[in-house]
Amino acid sequence: TRTQDEEDLPHATKKTMADHLRKYESLFTLTPQRMRMIVEAFKETLELGLEKPEQVVPMIPTYVFGWPTGKETGDFLAVDLGGTNLRVCLVTLQGEGKFEMTQTKYRLTEEQKQEDGQKLFDFCAECLKTFVTTNLEDGTLKEGDTLPLGFTFSYPCFQEKIDHGQLIRWTKGFGAPNTEGRDVAAMFRESLRKHNVPVELTALINDTTGTLIASSYVNPRTKIAVIFGTGCNAAYMEQVKDIPKIKQLGIDPDAEMAINCEWGAFDSFEHEHLPRTKYDIIIDEQSNKPGEQAFEKLISGRYLGEILRLVICELIDDGVLFLGQETYKIEIAYALDTAFLSLMESDPTEELLMIIGIFTHFFALETTLAERQFFRALAKLVGRRAARLSACGIAAIVSKMNYLEEGCAVGADGSLYNKYPGFADRVHEGLQDVFGDKGRNIVTYHAEDGSGVGSAIIAAMTKVRKDAGLY
Ligand code: GLC
Repeated sequence: TRTQDEEDLPHATKKTMADHLRKYESLFTLTPQRMRMIVEAFKETLELGLEKPEQVVPMIPTYVFGWPTGKETGDFLAVDLGGTNLRVCLVTLQGEGKFEMTQTKYRLTEEQKQEDGQKLFDFCAECLKTFVTTNLEDGTLKEGDTLPLGFTFSYPCFQEKIDHGQLIRWTKGFGAPNTEGRDVAAMFRESLRKHNVPVELTALINDTTGTLIASSYVNPRTKIAVIFGTGCNAAYMEQVKDIPKIKQLGIDPDAEMAINCEWGAFDSFEHEHLPRTKYDIIIDEQSNKPGEQAFEKLISGRYLGEILRLVICELIDDGVLFLGQETYKIEIAYALDTAFLSLMESDPTEELLMIIGIFTHFFALETTLAERQFFRALAKLVGRRAARLSACGIAAIVSKMNYLEEGCAVGADGSLYNKYPGFADRVHEGLQDVFGDKGRNIVTYHAEDGSGVGSAIIAAMTKVRKDAGLY
């Protein structure tokens, strides 16, 4: 790999790379003033979603009533169909905010995400069956027993009760036909029946709702939960009287109910508020759902690598990068995973050896030091923009709910939050840019496994309510 005398090589020179970087800096940088404008629009959108049905940001009432007591106990199964993996968990809640968990993970293939919906649920049922057979043969489950199952299905579902949910639309690249518009809990129940799995699906939950409840089980200061993973979304607790669109249902107005915001859809279709670059527009247009999930497409792990790749491809086309080299490998859509951005940002070596490794190993490309510094700076811009936009979403909820003065904890989970270096710091910085010093009152922290543990706690809370005749 060449690092010396780079000016002699047919690579981009230090000077040209610095010039280009300036252009991208202005494209990807969000000023505090712009952030405050986004927060205002976001807040109005959240309010509209609570007021009227069928809004772009649907603000879904989840039928999860109030916070856990921390005293919930028992064995619960959870199936978690996320954006990347299918997970099956057995959670034992021990009370006092403590639990134990056993789990198995399966990677979903791209084909599975696109094949018939019922087939996808059949696969989930088969995995659960195998899990139950291997893990519960020790007597946990007696002949004729059924275990309560929480189904974490992390896509927007319209709910009228806790164990039902009509899929509004697939997100995160899923496209399984014959599923949108249908009750996915009923579809999964059908698969469970077919495969004879001894469980009862008692709660259908979103990962954000699960995270909200699981985080509060161990940290009662938690008021908001956010997922930064393959997708991006948030949940928080609302007073029933402040959800005008469900007033006619006669639910106690003083009760509290968790709201799954589905904020990834913010600014979809109209594209009035978010600073989209031409790379964001290309991603949107080439996705299986053009126009949708506008906010999510600027933030989540599914797209960040692709944004950077599109910039690189543009510079290849313009004859700035990799002249004389075979570039077809990096020209494949989604070839640059967001995990590479994490690596680029965390490379501790002066020569940026990890970035050399990524480009030679995965794309058969040689890079100069100037180019590597440029890629790293670009990753920073894309990652920083994502974190600052996320801060706008959190700020909108904080401001709507008046949490700023007393402060609150925000339980956060997902690969981006957990693995991207500096992501949380940048979110916090963003919150201070929006709120000034008081922004320090809002602190995010790594949440408990909401999709597994949260699902179990909600199944337990549901059981308590059912036993009390409340459902
Ligand atoms: C997508 C889904 C949403 C989920 C989020 C994080 O935005 O629509 O339901 O919570 O991804 O997984």
